[in-house]
Parts: sequence; structure tokens; C-alpha cells
Amino acid sequence: MQKSEDRKESRTTRRDFLKASTVAVVGGAVASRLGEVPAVYAAGSDEIRVGLIGCGGRGTGAAEDAIKAAPGVKLVAMADVFKDKIDSSLENLKKAVGDKIDVPEDRQFVGLDAFEKVISSNANYIILATPPGFRPIHLKAAVAAGKNIFSEKPLAVDGPGVRSCFETYEEAKKKGLAVGVGTQRHHQAGYVATLKQIHAGAIGDIVAARAYWNQGPIWVFPRKEGWTDLEWQLRNWYYFTWLCGDHIVEQHIHNLDVVNWAMKAHPVQCVGLGGRQVRTAPEYGCIYDHFAVDYEYENGVHMMSMCRQIPNCANSVSEALQGTKGFCQVNRYTITGAKPWKYSTRSREGVPYTSEQDREDQPYVQEHTDLIASIRAGKPENELKECIESTLTAIMGRMATYTGKQVTWEEALNSQESLVPASLDWNMSLPVAPVAMPGQTELR
Ligand SMILES: NC(=O)c1ccc[n+]([C@@H]2O[C@H](COP(=O)([O-])OP(=O)(O)OC[C@H]3O[C@@H](n4cnc5c(N)ncnc54)[C@H](O)[C@@H]3O)[C@@H](O)[C@H]2O)c1
Repeated sequence: MQKSEDRKESRTTRRDFLKASTVAVVGGAVASRLGEVPAVYAAGSDEIRVGLIGCGGRGTGAAEDAIKAAPGVKLVAMADVFKDKIDSSLENLKKAVGDKIDVPEDRQFVGLDAFEKVISSNANYIILATPPGFRPIHLKAAVAAGKNIFSEKPLAVDGPGVRSCFETYEEAKKKGLAVGVGTQRHHQAGYVATLKQIHAGAIGDIVAARAYWNQGPIWVFPRKEGWTDLEWQLRNWYYFTWLCGDHIVEQHIHNLDVVNWAMKAHPVQCVGLGGRQVRTAPEYGCIYDHFAVDYEYENGVHMMSMCRQIPNCANSVSEALQGTKGFCQVNRYTITGAKPWKYSTRSREGVPYTSEQDREDQPYVQEHTDLIASIRAGKPENELKECIESTLTAIMGRMATYTGKQVTWEEALNSQESLVPASLDWNMSLPVAPVAMPGQTELR
């Protein structure tokens, strides 16, 4: 089991009663019911009332992080498709930050439509931490209701989801909402300082880049007797492309995002190789266990990207940039070449944060500190655009790898392949999608 930043999975074995309900996955039920709810925040004193949607490992962590990020923050509502997830999340949060938890039973919502109830509650800061397949609809509903949002990455799993997020981004901008996203390296002092060096020309022009997330296996939940297709896929969501996007999207997005950040651009096309060589058993659904993608930016610069989830192999979670005047190992905050440089906490000049060390050590807290500060200052930050682009970068890599074709940005963006079912029912038949086969799987 990995110990990386991306897994704080809290396991719960108790089987809870599932209410049979159907929910439209693509739609705007909450939006149309609530209409326009203005987000008004006078500078200084407003209470942040967190509504958590998706009460698993990261959602629980993000709620705690938000509470620790600033004074005047409390958790007021929770939603999950499974009651056991709410119970264990609440138990952990009460232990960690009990005095800031105000979630009575009538604000604990269970089911496929539970997200709508949190969005309709008195929460004014919505945390979205479900599997990413649901993100576009949850994001759209929260923005339609005029709520400020912290959304985990990635923001979608397919082209239609990405297009929806771009529309939602425009809507959030129009409404002046604050939207933070879970690409937390943007709030980690060493990364911020290193990227500042890159943008100031410390390695000259970037001529090549690489991005890796190579690691061992992660959690898996084999199917239990009595689980319907949907319950199993939701509990074991990582292994189904409609929920997870595959690991290039779900996890490797962090590294792709760093290179896009350095390039101030997204790639325009790519070619990829990959497959599932080790994780072939039924519990591994339909996703791959390795990808290697050659991305090309508009200026001709290539990024070599790799991600792997296979045990007993060479591991690396890293980003590197070769420039005309030097080389940067981004994740180590070092530059060699004409202007050697290394980040240390002494290079704190000009970074307007109360504790540089916290900003380095606790990016998961800092991202909320920054977001909440922007809300209270009446200058809401909106980080959606770059994260949507990084999401599409990863989706384009998956599409190229699954099909074996060269895929352009436009093809990925305009893809008509909608992976997420239009509606969900606990008892529906939901066959596992076929494993993609390069040369046979069509580009759609
Ligand atoms: N930024 C980071 O470093 C980081 C780290 C970990 C996870 N994440 C992201 O956070 C998200 C959640 O990951 P996790 O590790 O917490 O997974 P998890 O399985 O622990 O939690 C997901 C939770 O969402 C619930 N859920 C599923 N569908 C739902 C729906 N439609 N409505 C309400 N609840 C629903 C599940 O029951 C579960 O409790 C993912 O997008 C993941 O990529 C980001």
C-alpha cells in the first residue's frame, strides 16, 4: 500500500442500507431550484461554513485543513453516497477538531442526490471531494447556487466534462465566486519559489521537460456479496475510467500541471504507449497500470510523461525542466547551470505569508488559508482555468494511449465520448467497460 500524498484512505467495512434512488447525473436540479444566491462577503469577519461533499480520505482531510486554515471556520453539512463514510469521517473530524464540527443528523445527507442538499444548506464554502467523474455536475451546481468552492483535482474525466467545467469557470468568474483547486503545489513555498525562478529566466528558455508519477500499487476493494454493480464501482472507484479517469488523470495530473505551470501553456498534441500488464484481475476494473506519453507544446517543446502503479519497480514522483541556460529539478527546488540556485526557507523575501515553513510543509492547509483570505478580502481567487487545462492535458494523454493515435488538444476538448452515465440507479446494470486496446479503440 502506498504512503504517498494521494492516499489517506479511511477504510470502513460496515455495510449500510442503501436507499434505492435514482439521480440525474447530468443536469442542473439544484441550480434551477435555488436560482441566484449572491455570495456576499464583507472583508474581515465572515464565518466560513463548510459543506463537505465526498467524505472519504481527502474530503475528511480537506475539511480538517480548512478548519485549521483560518479562524471562524466550521463544518456544517456533509454528503456522501454511503452512510458509513459520513460516520467514519465525522468520528475522525470530531477527534481532530471537535469544537468546529456542527453537523447534526439533519445536515448529514446520504445518497446519490445528497450533494444537492449540502449545496442547498447554509454552507457557504463547498468542498468537492468525490471521485472526479461527478466533479463537473457538482461544480456546476455549486456555482449555480452562488457558493464559494474548494474542489479537489482532477476536474473531469472526459471531454464533455471538461467543456462543462470551462462553462462553469466563466459563470463563477461572472458571479465573482472564489474557487480553489487541489493542485496544492501552487500553495507550496518551494514550488512557488522555484517556478518564480523559472519565470524570471533562471534556466533560459525551456527546451524539454519531463514529468513522472511512478509508484507501487494503491488500495483496491474486490467485490463483496450483495453489492450491486453501482455500489461496487463506487466503493472501488479508482479502477473505473468513468469515475477516476484512469491514474494518468487522477494522480499524474499533479506533475503535468507543474510543467504546464512552468510553460505557461498546455500541450497541443501527444502520442502515448501504455497498458495493463500486472493489474489484470477483475477487481482492477478497466484501467491501465502504466502510461508513457510524449506531449508537444505549441512552441515545439516536448514533455516526456510517465506514470505507473506497479510494485517492485523504480519509483519517482518528479518534474524536471531543461533550459537553454540551465536545468531545474523542480520537485527538489534546485537549478544548475549558469545561475545555480537552491530553495531554502531563507529565500522567503517577498512571499507574503505568515509562516514560510507552514507554507512549505502544509500546502493542504495553505491552499485553504489563501482561498479564505481571498474571500475575506473581497478579492476571490479563481484557480479553475489552469486546473481544467491540466485535467484535459491528462485526458488527452489517456485518449492517445488508449487509441494508439496522435491526439490533438482540439480533439480531446471536442470529444463526444461521455464516460459518465446520464443517470444512476443503485440497481442498474453497469457492466465494466472493456479495457482499451490501442489500434482498435476508436477516438471519439
Ligand atoms: N490533492 C491531492 O493530493 C489529493 C489527495 C487525495 C485525493 N485527492 C482527490 O480527492 C478525490 C477523492 O479522493 P479520496 O482519496 O478521498 O477517495 P475516497 O474514496 O477516500 O473518498 C471519496 C468519497 O466520495 C464518496 N462519493 C462517491 N460518489 C459520490 C457522490 N456522487 N456524491 C457524494 N459522495 C460520493 C465516496 O463514498 C467516498 O466516501 C479524488 O478526486 C482524488 O483525486 C486529491
